[in-house]
Amino acid sequence: MLIETISPQIPKYKTIFKKIKNCFDEKYLTNDGKNLLNFENNLQKYFKSKIKPVVFCNGEMSLYSLIQAWKIHLKIQKCKAIVPSFTFSGTVNALVQNNIEPVFTDIDSTLTLDLKKIKLDKEVKFVIAASVYGNIPDIINIKKFCKKNKLVFILDNAPGFCSKINNQFPNNYNIDQIYSFHATKIFNSVEGGCAITSNKSIQKILKALRNFGQLNKKTNDVIVPGLNSKMSELSAVVGLENLKNINSVMTKRKKIIKKYVRFFKTLEEKNYIEQMKIKDNVFCNYFFYPIILKSSSSSNFINFMNKKKIFCRTYYRAVHTLSYYKKKISLKDSRKLSFTNKLNNKIIAIPLHSDMNNKHIEYLFKNIEKFFLSK
Ligand SMILES: Cc1ncc(COP(=O)(O)O)c(C=O)c1O
Repeated sequence: MLIETISPQIPKYKTIFKKIKNCFDEKYLTNDGKNLLNFENNLQKYFKSKIKPVVFCNGEMSLYSLIQAWKIHLKIQKCKAIVPSFTFSGTVNALVQNNIEPVFTDIDSTLTLDLKKIKLDKEVKFVIAASVYGNIPDIINIKKFCKKNKLVFILDNAPGFCSKINNQFPNNYNIDQIYSFHATKIFNSVEGGCAITSNKSIQKILKALRNFGQLNKKTNDVIVPGLNSKMSELSAVVGLENLKNINSVMTKRKKIIKKYVRFFKTLEEKNYIEQMKIKDNVFCNYFFYPIILKSSSSSNFINFMNKKKIFCRTYYRAVHTLSYYKKKISLKDSRKLSFTNKLNNKIIAIPLHSDMNNKHIEYLFKNIEKFFLSK
């Protein structure tokens, strides 16, 4: 038996090939084509967003552009942003590429930004939180905090497709956010992403940013120095098809999640692992099922599983420990990230795909138990 790290959502070939053939027959492959526009319409319906989401070529460019749009809108030059170190490097790169200094902040037991640990100074203008493993941070309180302190709040919800808080998507709380539609994610358009805002001026800037800063096709005039980050019609076709099937994917996924939760609770009770805390009002899509090893080494665990053809990995690595960033953080600031440092490299991302059947799940659980019993 083989359990891959990820198993991408694949659209139905027949429909896809027909639609892609249409793109080639009509010779319209990119630049606000009908598939892209349909995709944005359908995403708006799916997210029940007030304003149409703006689709990009990937999640990182969606985040980079959303941050930039707010900088342009508020005429912010150089500034700082609060950001958890425990996230994907793309979150922090998007800030740095916007000439914003990251102020790394600790996480709590949800593995997301710990609001209590935020330390502000007058240069901080942004707070970026990230839904690692699809777990939505405490966005309602972070939003209140940002409003009180006149800060822009953006949620990097790249891995959080289908995750909800109080049965709502974060944009339903007027929180600006981005998603990734990368092939590894629960929902994909091969590569892709979108930014969702509730502010019309921001949406206008986003549309220009993805298209070299041009808003008006006829004049080619540039309102901002944007970087080309459009999605092609071919990706939009895949996104449209996958969106049609996402509810059935999630129904299967929810059943598997229930089994995982039950199984890993027993391992937690035996003191082998700790689990990421999910608040009662959050539905987490479990983009991977993270487990925190208590005494075993993560390389031993991963090697053991790999021998059984179960491909686990450590997915996020604290960004302040990565080569580029570790040169820039002082020892004092790095020590402040005590919970992040404690957990870094101890979290294993266990694969969880909607196409896993009972046999895969039994095989996975049996081998995980074997590992802990052999200790
Ligand atoms: C938290 C987070 N932010 C940003 C990204 C970047 O998304 P993309 O790969 O679509 O550029 C990812 C992707 O894995 C992510 O997990």
